[in-house]
Amino acid sequence: MADVIIEEPRADEASRADASSDAESVVFSGVGKVFGGATAALSNVDLSVTRGEVFGIIGRSGAGKSTLLRLVNGLEKPSSGEVRVNGISVGALDERGLVALRRRIGMVFQHFNLLSAKTVRENIALPLKIAGRPKREIEAKVDALLELVGLSAKRDAYPRSLSGGQKQRVGIARALVHDPDLLLCDEATSALDPETTQQILALLRDINRRLGLTIVLITHEMAVIREVCDSVAVIEAGEVVETGAVWRVFGDPRHAATQALLRTLVHDLPADLAARLDSVPRDHADVLLDVRYTGESRHEPDLGALAVALGALGGRVHFVHGGIDRIQGHAQGRLVVSAQLRASGADQAGLRAHVDALVAGARRHADKVEVLGYV
Ligand SMILES: Nc1ncnc2c1ncn2[C@@H]1O[C@H](COP(=O)(O)OP(=O)(O)OP(=O)(O)O)[C@@H](O)[C@H]1O
Ligand SMILES: [Mg+2]
Repeated sequence: MADVIIEEPRADEASRADASSDAESVVFSGVGKVFGGATAALSNVDLSVTRGEVFGIIGRSGAGKSTLLRLVNGLEKPSSGEVRVNGISVGALDERGLVALRRRIGMVFQHFNLLSAKTVRENIALPLKIAGRPKREIEAKVDALLELVGLSAKRDAYPRSLSGGQKQRVGIARALVHDPDLLLCDEATSALDPETTQQILALLRDINRRLGLTIVLITHEMAVIREVCDSVAVIEAGEVVETGAVWRVFGDPRHAATQALLRTLVHDLPADLAARLDSVPRDHADVLLDVRYTGESRHEPDLGALAVALGALGGRVHFVHGGIDRIQGHAQGRLVVSAQLRASGADQAGLRAHVDALVAGARRHADKVEVLGYV
């Protein structure tokens, strides 16, 4: 295992646009996939995965995520369009070409797929044995990989005596035996508890950084994407409906499918407040504002300035609910803020104007501000 530390080639979108094809690990161009005349599992997929990044694929069950991944290593063939890996068109490869390609691509599965009658060492060694590598080389390689995934102490254990997380470490080590430059993970952490998931993710991130390995991963856990991915694509009914840097897509999800998937991460309005919410402003009532920070501005949310601006226009100000997360250095999140209306004697039109002034004041200190209602 090369001990080279490769600087993260984390292309931002500007440099990505004019990047040469050398910068692309995987490119889908107009890819469609139909299984036996049924409705299309994938249609018109255009995507590119930049070398060295961690690329997440999310979408509902049956959206086409696994099919998309299987097209990369030629386990499925596209019905239309082209998939290129490192500049090579996968569809144009013969059997020998496919075998060579699959050695460049590691694959990690949800259910580990380990051989129960073989030890950890033998499981990892197997692909190298099949490839006919010398014993000495195999042993050195397996030792280095065990070290990399933190499993040296378990080298002679059998899978049945391993925890789920340890099994997945074996799965990851085995996927790396041929020094691939691309790793595909189909729900690699779905069978693991949250803490073990964190450890496996940290391992994948570490491998990505240390080896400069490109990783494409499918997951149902949005927090996984937020934690480890650089870019994300959202698949809905076989189509890519949204894609881009994770902080951008998560900070300001545009498509309904993305919004639905991200609901688990959103600080929704608590039920007690929602139940009391009125749609008509009253003097001295509180207006509830949905205040969003998308991370676009790169500024830290200045809650003091927000409170001062609202307080200067109305009465008391409360931060009611919500939170800020950091994704790839961008602070983003959603806060529910209440500000008291102070428009003594104003009629409905006057109250609405007062609310508009509060919203305008808040917008100077946040990326998006909307009125949720009045309590
Ligand atoms: N070999 C196959 N033959 C026929 N239909 C298939 C085959 N593989 C996948 N499909 C269909 O293609 C669609 C996409 O399946 P796919 O497995 O890619 O979804 P997915 O997004 O990975 O779902 P999940 O999150 O449940 O794993 C589904 O409608 C599925 O039934
Ligand atoms: Mg799947």
